[in-house]
Amino acid sequence: MDEDAPTLKPATIAVKAGRPATEPDAPLNEPITMASTYVAGAEREYGRYANPTWSAFEEALGELEGGRALAFASGMAAVGTVMDLVGQDGRVVAPQHAYHGSLMVLADLEARGRARSELVDITDTDAVVKACDDAALVWLESPTNPALETADLPTIIAAAHDAGASVVVDNTFATPLLQRPLDDGADIVLHSATKYLAGHSDVLMGALVTRDDELYGVLKGRRDLLGAVPGPFETWLALRGLRTLHLRVERAQANATELVRRLEQHPAVTEVRYPGFGGIIAIVLADGPAADLLTHTTRLWVHATSLGGVESTFERRRRWRTEAATIPEGLVRMSVGVEDVDDLWADLERALDQVG
Ligand SMILES: Cc1ncc(COP(=O)(O)O)c(C=O)c1O
Repeated sequence: MDEDAPTLKPATIAVKAGRPATEPDAPLNEPITMASTYVAGAEREYGRYANPTWSAFEEALGELEGGRALAFASGMAAVGTVMDLVGQDGRVVAPQHAYHGSLMVLADLEARGRARSELVDITDTDAVVKACDDAALVWLESPTNPALETADLPTIIAAAHDAGASVVVDNTFATPLLQRPLDDGADIVLHSATKYLAGHSDVLMGALVTRDDELYGVLKGRRDLLGAVPGPFETWLALRGLRTLHLRVERAQANATELVRRLEQHPAVTEVRYPGFGGIIAIVLADGPAADLLTHTTRLWVHATSLGGVESTFERRRRWRTEAATIPEGLVRMSVGVEDVDDLWADLERALDQVG
């Protein structure tokens, strides 16, 4: 980057970062480079180590998060890469309601005698700070999936560092537009780029971002070796999605804020959970059957897992056997899209009226 260039706002970074140099006849967008191998003699060498389309995506995400990004084949590939850094018998502190896939990786490490885990209520800052003592890694997710709890990131990150632990923050729900954990001192930011970053429910991808050059080298070394790399076309799609991240997040958040207001007044809804930002809401209905009825009665809202796409989707989380038993049976996680909010509400209200 040009040293004299002005500091850009996130919306401008989302649009401008990671583009080819502005030269006559240059394409505006980084092309999809389909190459397993490169002519020897320079940096790239082989398709498991580097790809120009990855570099463009990584430059854009890195600028948004304020660090250096690495693209992975999926969010879980990124999760596995970080968890694998924990040394033999290391202690990992994690939220009791983190994404169930991340918790399953942790449970697997524990079952194989590789690591020990302590699951915490991340809203109880004092308890989390105490748990950091003697930890090797503090895993944070804020807001949590699907409980939507938030953590006091600066306090917990500082306590973890005092205790000698590294900190990773899964920033999938907030996106770098609503939260930049590296600014709070986190060592690594993790994304399921499948969600908001790509944003169109058509690609699986993950990412890690760090400010620490040594850690970057370690993470890239693991990716080079284990090969959890994304395809160039997937990466191109994710970068194309990233160009409108600010517009999609802004609209999803505005829709979510309005839907929360209306949901709170509906008698079939016993609880509405919303962290006050972002496009994900969780509602609790009377029981599992009521939640199932809701997810099978709407016309616009699609019953589907995943989240962060332009279209509104929802699901009863306990339909997954691996979801935490402390998540209510009647909890429905709603990923609010960018449609017209009155249409979204009309569809929901009609279905909720049938539920109770
Ligand atoms: C918060 C969070 N982290 C990580 C993941 C895993 O990402 P992926 O499905 O892209 O492997 C998910 C997927 O739902 C998620 O919601």
